[in-house]
Amino acid sequence: MNIKIAVLSGDGIGPEVIAEALKVLEMVGQYTCHEFSLTHGLVGGEAIERTGSALPDETLALARASDAVLFGAVGDPKFDDPGLKMRPEDGLLALRKELGLFANLRPVMVYDELVDGAIFKPDIIRGADFIFVRELTGGLYFGQPKKRWTVPEGRRAVDSMAYSEQEIERLVRLGFELARARRRKLTSVDKANVLESSRLWREVTNDVARDYPEVALEHMLVDTCAMRILLTPRDFDVLVTENTFGDILTDEASLLAGSMGMLPSASLAGVPREVERAFGLYEPIHGSAPAIAGKDIANPIATILTLAMMLRYSCALPEEAGLVERAVARVLKMGYRTGDIMSEGKKQVGTKEMGDIIVREIAA
Ligand code: IPM
Ligand code: MG
Repeated sequence: MNIKIAVLSGDGIGPEVIAEALKVLEMVGQYTCHEFSLTHGLVGGEAIERTGSALPDETLALARASDAVLFGAVGDPKFDDPGLKMRPEDGLLALRKELGLFANLRPVMVYDELVDGAIFKPDIIRGADFIFVRELTGGLYFGQPKKRWTVPEGRRAVDSMAYSEQEIERLVRLGFELARARRRKLTSVDKANVLESSRLWREVTNDVARDYPEVALEHMLVDTCAMRILLTPRDFDVLVTENTFGDILTDEASLLAGSMGMLPSASLAGVPREVERAFGLYEPIHGSAPAIAGKDIANPIATILTLAMMLRYSCALPEEAGLVERAVARVLKMGYRTGDIMSEGKKQVGTKEMGDIIVREIAA
């Protein structure tokens, strides 16, 4: 099997963590005799500097011609000026939109090995294992109107949280499908006590729920959810939510896993099926972390787990995905840690060494 992968490393720590994931992919290739053809493309800040666009046409064409996109991170303080017309992040947003990747799967897994190093009481978080399905191509990020203007009294700006029932339906349905194959509980997160778009979200979710009587549905307000994912994280199985809510809640949820450097994600255009190959974009949730870029200290585990999601959903290689995930778990058990998840008595390693150790474990 020949699988075409577009590799978009992007900015900051993107290239470093992607390099480690590619070592893992090479190992998987040797182990399974599958051929992965990699083509690198520009995106984000580097793309703006070299081509004037955060998503050059060539990169979009490359993504379209591939079976999957492996994505690092975008963002650079050079582009922080709010007056700028184009930002590195625009490249990622345009990719998601152009490729129709409406569902962002963000699994949150608390490894037993990291429970004691976490800032929470071990008994509260041990065994937590849930998955966010974040809507990715609508809501506040893309809704119109979205603009700035000036009136005599001063400057004004608007973003719109807009949703159609079709956008809500396909996302929620995907959430139900995942829940059906897991512990059969779905939490739909909204702000229906205030927002009209949330009231529509709740209504549509209740409609879709009729097709899934075996799944227990609960609705939860987003502010309550922000609290509950830290207080009773084990109560959750699958959560579906609007774009911005999902962005915020998943950064928060990463604290349970010990670090943002532990959370992978997959952006898909339909219900994932492990046995069929489907296009997807795969990225760690952590972003470009410019402050630690180039220092060989970033945690590559999120990207390596992201690669595992790619193997599962876009390559129809669930066994190989499991192989990678188990290797990560074993390396944690052996006591290896990058700085972000370091605790007393463990062995601190850099980005490259962590990658090497995981590759070695896959081969073992
Ligand atoms: C994420 C990131 C992006 C987002 C940024 C880089 C545009 O924070 O993937 O969570 O807000 O979606
Ligand atoms: Mg984010």
